Amino acid sequence: MMDVGRHPRIELLAYSEIEDISGYVGNFKARVRKKARYVDEKECTACGDCVPVCPIVKPDEFQTGLSTRRAIYIPFPQAVPSSYIINMQECLGDNPIACGKCMEACDKKCISFDMRDEIIEFEVGAVIVATGMEAYDPTEMDEYGYTRYENVITSLEFERLISAGGPTEGHLVRPTDRRTPQRIGFVQCVGSRSQDGRGNPYCSNICCMNTVKDSLLLKDHYPDIDLTVFYMDMRAFGKGFEDLYMRSRAAGVKYIRGLPGEVMEDPETRNLRVVVENTTARRLEEHELDMLILSIGAVPRHDSDVVKQLLTLSRTPDGFFMESHPKLKPVDAPTKGVFLAGCAESPKDIKDSVTQASAAASRAEILLSAPTIKVEAITAVVDEALCKACGLCAPVCPYGAIIWEKKQPAQVISAACAGCGTCAAECQYQAIAMRHFSDQAIYAQIDAMLEVGSWKLEVGCSNLRPPTSNLQPGAARPPIVVFACNWCSYAGADTAGVGRMEYPPNARLIRTMCSGRVDPDFVWYSFRKGAPLVLVSGCHYADCHYINANRQTVRRVDALWEGLEKQGVRPERLQLDWVSAAEGQKWAKVMQELDELWAGVTAEEIEQTRQALQEAKTPIRSALDRLKQPTAATMLCMRCGNKWAVTFDPAADEERLCPRCRSNSVRVLIG
Ligand code: FES
Repeated sequence: MMDVGRHPRIELLAYSEIEDISGYVGNFKARVRKKARYVDEKECTACGDCVPVCPIVKPDEFQTGLSTRRAIYIPFPQAVPSSYIINMQECLGDNPIACGKCMEACDKKCISFDMRDEIIEFEVGAVIVATGMEAYDPTEMDEYGYTRYENVITSLEFERLISAGGPTEGHLVRPTDRRTPQRIGFVQCVGSRSQDGRGNPYCSNICCMNTVKDSLLLKDHYPDIDLTVFYMDMRAFGKGFEDLYMRSRAAGVKYIRGLPGEVMEDPETRNLRVVVENTTARRLEEHELDMLILSIGAVPRHDSDVVKQLLTLSRTPDGFFMESHPKLKPVDAPTKGVFLAGCAESPKDIKDSVTQASAAASRAEILLSAPTIKVEAITAVVDEALCKACGLCAPVCPYGAIIWEKKQPAQVISAACAGCGTCAAECQYQAIAMRHFSDQAIYAQIDAMLEVGSWKLEVGCSNLRPPTSNLQPGAARPPIVVFACNWCSYAGADTAGVGRMEYPPNARLIRTMCSGRVDPDFVWYSFRKGAPLVLVSGCHYADCHYINANRQTVRRVDALWEGLEKQGVRPERLQLDWVSAAEGQKWAKVMQELDELWAGVTAEEIEQTRQALQEAKTPIRSALDRLKQPTAATMLCMRCGNKWAVTFDPAADEERLCPRCRSNSVRVLIG
């Protein structure tokens, strides 16, 4: 940090907040609020004369509240710049009657109550998001007695307690009586890998090795101390970690597989009684301890949503920022020119954070040192002659790559466009064309697949199923039309093929870059041309490679279901499913299920649908689009017919999944 502070080419804006970022790769404009410190950071020598005279005493956040600070303070000892700051919410002010004592004490006269927040604007070519994480608050885990018993503390509090820079200067003492504890217990996975609705389902990555490190440190300083670790599994992956774990065991630390079910305190001795099921020995045990340390997990920052919106990022279901590709672009954010480092992306230790930060810096450097930026040619193009300036395309673009001003044709910033095609699917005037995935090409594919295997023809594709009872003898069945996104479903079908998985060969695939590219009219047209069934498939809800473009898919499919029903067509003939690239098995299962639905579509039904949709307009919006409040609704699975009641919240961004058949073809019925 000191090096960063001194570097001639790094401008460090501490105690500042980004208010807005606009623009795109190579051309970001950032507006930063540099908050007033009320102490001149260049003049302040951190002599500390102002501190003892300040009458305000507050818990020190850096020491997790185990010691106090004043209203004028240095946030933490290694802070850069090393200068004081006044918390104006706590300070009594400069009125001499009220206070102003720090000003009198400061010989260098570097305290000024007239300082104001500054707004700084600058241009940058790339952005690295390294906003970190927060620690899980274990208060809701009532069985551990945190906040009820003083001798139950978190691993973060314990870290301060044994730190040489901590409130006890590294001397381990028990909070209740300031004695050195002789029996300490550690509880692992507090708030991590939890399936009961409290805490988080993911592994926080760092807690196991933090406990192993703490146990070795304690054994080093207090060889006779009795240490017990309660765990469900110890995860010691990583270079040298297994060795450390073995050293900890060899040093006499007891590892008990089982998490405590109850913690009680003896009101006199303040010792703790921990009840645990030892699942290795298969018995219930009680342990008497002086102190209990809860190894708390990591959680995303509470303000991650603000950063997400500023930079059009995407978050994984656990709330951390999503990378562009977990294997091939692990430090790139989906928005071009934005990179991720450290725990903002997922919980990780120091080594991994440094590795990722170095990679992010290199990725940014590669981008900035190139004279021009190459972008994929699969971008959207607006035909100004056709554009009616309705502006509907701009809000659906996950990258903010469309500029639209009233009465002006929309403009696509090619450098920011990732080519998902959701804008083209939204445009009702065919004014947006996708390079390489044009409407004409997709309509031509639909024509080809439905005409070659048309149910009216006597000959069909040889690998289409033989006719069933409801078709004319000798007639082949038209195939199921499947729209598959390039990154997941198409690749999932590939995985099924490469893995030699068997499934009925009755579907024909049309590849689009994203399921968001599927224009409702493609589906409508398919039915009009005689498709018995249509499947729209894409990446899992939270895994869309274009941030959240598949949310538009869900919205459009809702409208199509409603529209089909209005025209007297069975809406279940349109299906929606998320299949990832690795889910060859799921792909085969979906194809099997579709085959069963397919067998139930009669030739008459196909013909009736063709007739019914000839004149009907393609549905664009559904009743759900008008919904503003959470409303009582029935969820209907379009695959298995399962129904269940919910309160549907239009603002909640939740995946729909049938609890019975696990299909994503779930329709919301209001009223
Ligand atoms: Fe697969 Fe968006 S990229 S659904």
